[in-house]
Amino acid sequence: MSVKKLKVALIGCGRISYKHVEAINNNKNKLKLVAACDLINKRAQEKGVPVFEDYRDVLKEDIDIVTIATDSGSHAKIALAALNEGKHVIVEKPMALSSDDADKMIKAATNNKVKLSISHQNRFNPTVQKLREAVEKKRFGKLIAGNARILWNRGKNYYEQASWRGTYAQDGGCLMNQCIHNIDLLQWMMGSKVEKVNAMIGNFTHSYIEAEDYGSLQLRFKNGAIGNIEGTVSVYATNLKETLMIMGEDGIVELGGQAVNEILTWRFKDNRDSLEEVQLAANQSIDNVYGFGHTLLYKDMIEAIEEGREPYINGESGKIAMKIILDAYEVCL
Ligand SMILES: NC(=O)c1ccc[n+]([C@@H]2O[C@H](COP(=O)([O-])OP(=O)(O)OC[C@H]3O[C@@H](n4cnc5c(N)ncnc54)[C@H](O)[C@@H]3O)[C@@H](O)[C@H]2O)c1
Repeated sequence: MSVKKLKVALIGCGRISYKHVEAINNNKNKLKLVAACDLINKRAQEKGVPVFEDYRDVLKEDIDIVTIATDSGSHAKIALAALNEGKHVIVEKPMALSSDDADKMIKAATNNKVKLSISHQNRFNPTVQKLREAVEKKRFGKLIAGNARILWNRGKNYYEQASWRGTYAQDGGCLMNQCIHNIDLLQWMMGSKVEKVNAMIGNFTHSYIEAEDYGSLQLRFKNGAIGNIEGTVSVYATNLKETLMIMGEDGIVELGGQAVNEILTWRFKDNRDSLEEVQLAANQSIDNVYGFGHTLLYKDMIEAIEEGREPYINGESGKIAMKIILDAYEVCL
């Protein structure tokens, strides 16, 4: 018996788009890519499905899920149009570039009874899931601090590929573009609202972009815990590492690797499991910083639609990291 597949349209066929196509293919028993849209026709054509240049034309088609992988500054406009046409939406991070726009998107999803899912795919990493499980089981006791470090390199070539990158109107700097994933994980693990954001940012090695290439943030969570974030794309020559450390009175965990895909430290007072055990269960080798989370993000969207529940990373959830970074910009700019 053939199962009716959900029809997906991809808007924005640039650098990250192949991860969406791969994820749709990995869920091909339930999903089918039926349209590709890009202002640059050739990019859309490469996807091998009917092509559209104007996203508004895509929205008139019989589509169930619209994926938005355009420049960050255009996410809100396209997402609002899609949600208001009654389409489910998967939107790349950051979901928007203002709290106002994020709120409008959340409201539009509710009003139109459709799903809105934000592409913070690293939440699905087995390492991250293990850490989250430890948080949920309260194995850390009182939380003391969370540290997120993103020590990466992006050179002139990366910024020259797309003029929107590194502009505050359409992207933001390294905090909003690269570091948002780890900032999202940090706030998610700390399990409490952010009360205060201190920040310093600078542009040290990218004179040709407007926004920051280095940022240092301190967060105070409502539960009293402290967050420390250091993010940069100015590391000499190549990416160095990305780490997330969560520390409580009864335990400490550190994740590392290219995209927090390895457990480096796993120490709990309750001694329920060893570092070797959790490494064996959760460490994953990946071929780039995007990891494998997109496939699980789509699987979750399918299940959210089938089960009539919210996506794992819905609009409210996706808004938090964006808001932390906007607050940091507010302090600094
Ligand atoms: N989740 C992740 O790990 C991850 C990784 C990389 C990028 N991203 C995000 O994905 C988004 C895209 O990034 P990218 O590096 O692929 O950018 P890109 O510039 O390579 O691709 C964006 C594409 O969107 C097209 N586009 C722009 N406006 C459009 C419109 N109105 N209609 C149709 N097409 C339009 C452009 O022509 C371009 O081909 C950004 O928001 C970025 O932050 C997420």
